[in-house]
Amino acid sequence: MLAIRLTAEPDRLDTVALPVRPGAADGAPAEPVPTAVALPAGVADEAAALAPIARFEGRAGEVHAQLRPGRTPARLLLLCVGEGGEAAWRKAGAALVRAARDETHVTLALPVGVPSAAVRGLVEGLLLGSYRYRLGADADAPTLTGVDLAVSDPETYEPAVDLARTTARMTRLARDLTNTPSSVKNPQWFAEQIAEAAAELPGLRLRVREPEQLAAEGFGGILAVGGGSASGPRLVELDWHPADAGTHVVLVGKGITFDTGGISIKPVPAMKLMRKDMAGAAAVVAATLGAAALRLPVRITTLAPLAENMVSGGAFRPGDIIRHYGGLTSETTNSDAEGRLVLADALAYAVQELKPDLLLDLATLTGANAVALGTRTGALYSDDDQLATDLLAAIREAGEAAWRMPLPADYVEHLGSDLADLHSAPTQGAGSVLAALYLREFTGELRERWLHIDMSAPSWCERDDAELTRGATGWGVRGLLRWLATLS
Ligand code: BES
Ligand code: MN
Ligand code: ZN
Repeated sequence: MLAIRLTAEPDRLDTVALPVRPGAADGAPAEPVPTAVALPAGVADEAAALAPIARFEGRAGEVHAQLRPGRTPARLLLLCVGEGGEAAWRKAGAALVRAARDETHVTLALPVGVPSAAVRGLVEGLLLGSYRYRLGADADAPTLTGVDLAVSDPETYEPAVDLARTTARMTRLARDLTNTPSSVKNPQWFAEQIAEAAAELPGLRLRVREPEQLAAEGFGGILAVGGGSASGPRLVELDWHPADAGTHVVLVGKGITFDTGGISIKPVPAMKLMRKDMAGAAAVVAATLGAAALRLPVRITTLAPLAENMVSGGAFRPGDIIRHYGGLTSETTNSDAEGRLVLADALAYAVQELKPDLLLDLATLTGANAVALGTRTGALYSDDDQLATDLLAAIREAGEAAWRMPLPADYVEHLGSDLADLHSAPTQGAGSVLAALYLREFTGELRERWLHIDMSAPSWCERDDAELTRGATGWGVRGLLRWLATLS
């Protein structure tokens, strides 16, 4: 991860970046923003002369590079910060690390009186935009290793930088886990990674259930879905329980380490990216680690049902009837609707044994998420308007996107089965909505205190875009951390 340092006395001035903003009047030329720390002689005047002729459109993240042979700095980067809010600074930070990938170090002079929120956005952009996932040698790796932020009062901004650093570190962890090939990432490996990360933070308790314990306690959904794989399923239970905790929230994340679809096997194009089918588990785990690192005063129990949905003589069959934790049964007509089966066990366990105040699950649940909302937006469900509004706000402020979807009563009848309590994969109706309605059946007394997000679409992106990099996005870590910080 890039080294980010706040300093009042910038001492590395080979490459200096200066913020620029759009002109005050519509169409007026861009102008440099007055900086908190004095620059080498002549630089401010030069920037003032360059900005109007550099053809900035005024969008955050536009960069103009100026070479200054024989002078200090030798490179001057003018960085447009748009209207200067947190989101704009996040974009600018990501653009800066891309523009400076071949430098070794950059000093960015921050504006006089820059808000802490802007610095938080900036640092998230720097640390997330510079993320790369490579196995083995990285011949084309960027050379940039550090960014100094020049401000007059570094202490003022330390908390914002710490918050951003933790948020980015955990988002990067979720990206790493999700990008890892499934040949490496079986349920046991994933559980070990969580154990290693949790061991580095004081105050976390971890329990990992193996197949024998899952069978003894009746986790029929997790066992059915994991039954076809040579790598048995796990249920990870991670608990952050500080002494000053108020609210108790349970987070559940779908952790299918590879989804072939099972006997209802997926066609080639649909299976290509199914190593990402544990992105929900990665996000809830990473958010919990983040909450522990920040010592948030909220109790969080995180459940990650981990299983590989494979095809073999041990695989569950379309038409099987599964008995979930607590006793509800599901008729499974499509083994590719496996996520809801493992989530159902975890939700039922949370409601019956953990009895939290709030219950939230995150899952790469349906292809229908992208059909309804496009590639960047999660589908959020809750019967409670206030809970939905609060979570949507946290997600938006964190720079992620979600849209609330309905839980219509006239759809519930599609969940009926002649043979079991529920039908897990009805063929009529909107897929993401039906999956949510199915999960709701397992929320018992917490039905009104439950939130669900289908995050299949935003869990991945095809090309670099602002703070997102090609591949796993770590979607949910930022939004969840913001939301958890509002509970107490
Ligand atoms: N893991 C998939 C959902 C998915 C699809 C995630 C595309 C990311 C990108 C899930 O297990 C699945 O296969 N869902 C089925 C449900 C259907 C069988 C009811 C789907 O969406 O087609
Ligand atoms: Mn599936
Ligand atoms: Zn799946």
